[in-house]
Amino acid sequence: MTEATSATDLVIDETSEDVAVAPPRPVERSRAADGPAARKEARTAEIIVVTSGKGGVGKTTTSASLACGLARRGKRVAVIDFDIGLRNLDLVMGCERRVVYDFVNVINGDCTLKQALIKDKRIDTLFVLAASQTRDKDALSAEGVRRVLDDLSADGFDYIICDSPAGIEKGAHLAMYYADRAVVVVNPEVSSVRDSDRILGLLASKTERAEKGGKGIIEHLLLTRYSPRRVATGEMMSVGDVKEILGLDVVGVIPESPDVLTASNAGTPVILNAESDVARAYDDAVTRLLGESVPLRFIEEPKKGLFARMFGG
Ligand SMILES: Nc1ncnc2c1ncn2[C@@H]1O[C@H](COP(=O)(O)OP(=O)(O)O)[C@@H](O)[C@H]1O
Ligand SMILES: [Mg+2]
Repeated sequence: MTEATSATDLVIDETSEDVAVAPPRPVERSRAADGPAARKEARTAEIIVVTSGKGGVGKTTTSASLACGLARRGKRVAVIDFDIGLRNLDLVMGCERRVVYDFVNVINGDCTLKQALIKDKRIDTLFVLAASQTRDKDALSAEGVRRVLDDLSADGFDYIICDSPAGIEKGAHLAMYYADRAVVVVNPEVSSVRDSDRILGLLASKTERAEKGGKGIIEHLLLTRYSPRRVATGEMMSVGDVKEILGLDVVGVIPESPDVLTASNAGTPVILNAESDVARAYDDAVTRLLGESVPLRFIEEPKKGLFARMFGG
């Protein structure tokens, strides 16, 4: 552990858009990965999986914003795309042109972790590990994932955010396997809530913490694409309904907003848009993740002004 460099020292600082492709070098492994005892000591980073039952609910959007929000508060954060074959975290983070090596390359020893981590250009303590474009769904192994997480931890990261693929396939299983916490992303509709229930079952049984017994994973609910207007008309389920069905603590309620698409098209995590309620809602979620309680916002329909009430609108 004494040899561990800091996360910032670890990474090649790329200031130009054009990244030279470095020749593969033998993998340097930190001492922390050498034995179970050392490993246990080394795992100081908190591993948070962002997961869901259904696809397309907002996991990648959430992973990017939570990672940014934590890093903006001075935490060292690595965010990893586990969606093999379908990488898009790099797009949402705006670093797709700087991807040279990916998660699978690190696991296979084609490059070092240091070569694959992409340092964010906006926040010094934020790093992205992109997913591979390979079609081979078996490219991730439990042992490989563990080694990368242990090495990140030994290198001084405070948080590792694992952006999970949807459902119950291998990538989703590996994304949650070593987690300390889970953020279960749900949309306020029946199918999304029902599929989350399956994921909660897996979190409670198919993770390292569950298998070892003792302290289980801390689970949080993050409700996104929430539209107070559609809740009022009965088209969507309310925060209270979802919370009651899933029995989880609510870490955030994120409003439905076109700001999300604008942000992902620009490669800027939406939490960085100071004008957006989505950013405020994600920032509140970060505050709650850090253990502080703040009231939920944006869950009521805004009151209409007199003019709108008289003339419609
Ligand atoms: N709060 C939101 N408001 C509007 N659209 C959203 C919101 N969150 C996510 N989306 C959109 O939903 C789609 C899926 O989001 P994404 O984060 O890629 O989900 P996943 O990673 O779960 O597949 C994207 O088109 C994204 O722009
Ligand atoms: Mg995704």
